Amino acid sequence: MLLQIKGKNFYHFDSISSTNSHMLELLSKFKPFDEGTVILADEQTQGRGQQGTHWESNKAENLTFSLYLCPSFLEVEKQFNLSKIICLAIQKVIQSKVDSPVEIKWPNDVYVSSKKIAGILIETVLMNNILKHVVVGIGINVNQTYFKSNTDKATSLKLECGSSFDRLALLEEVLDAIDEYYQQLKNKELASIHDDYLNKLLNLRQARYYMVNGEKVLGKIIGIDEHGRLELIINGNLFLFSNKEIEFILQ
Ligand code: BTN
Repeated sequence: MLLQIKGKNFYHFDSISSTNSHMLELLSKFKPFDEGTVILADEQTQGRGQQGTHWESNKAENLTFSLYLCPSFLEVEKQFNLSKIICLAIQKVIQSKVDSPVEIKWPNDVYVSSKKIAGILIETVLMNNILKHVVVGIGINVNQTYFKSNTDKATSLKLECGSSFDRLALLEEVLDAIDEYYQQLKNKELASIHDDYLNKLLNLRQARYYMVNGEKVLGKIIGIDEHGRLELIINGNLFLFSNKEIEFILQ
């Protein structure tokens, strides 16, 4: 196994500002960790989400951790494949526990019944156009049953299944699943990773409403391009969107 969560590569904090921030700070100061190192926190006082948002997570109820990868084998232009494999790994583990369909909301969220159950914040450090350090921050809602900031938009394993889960056992499952997909990435199985990602993609080939430049538009996702941009057909024309340019409207 590449990713060992027990022993020297696993740091478990009671409370920390953010596992991603901590890992990035250590990487900027000391020699790099072994690939597969995990920093887990029971509580993050400044948990960070995508686009500068706050990641809400009650103490010791969920999984909030960062995983260190150094995929120097992957061209910078192809780095969206990292998002794909991490989403696929989390989707797979959650789907093994939940009856309802577990889907990937582009670019890198995991949803159950139109509610978010997991989010990913991947932060990279480049050197000479090579992916030197990659910090994969993962938040999975496990045993939390009430979300202050996102009452009707967030869910958890406990809300979906009615019972509590052992967080460390779940972490191990997620790391095993990431390991499996990471090997596929190393083996350059990009076409099959892409197919798997599309197979799990929320709203694929369905007419749905989105917010674009403050306007509500009806569009149909037809794919994801090689840079990870969303391919959407609106009024018969193909448009490409990057993350900040479009918002899903989920009911
Ligand atoms: C999102 O907005 O969907 C991404 C959420 C990512 C949250 C995780 S929790 C562990 C890691 N540390 C952070 O500060 N954020 C990520």
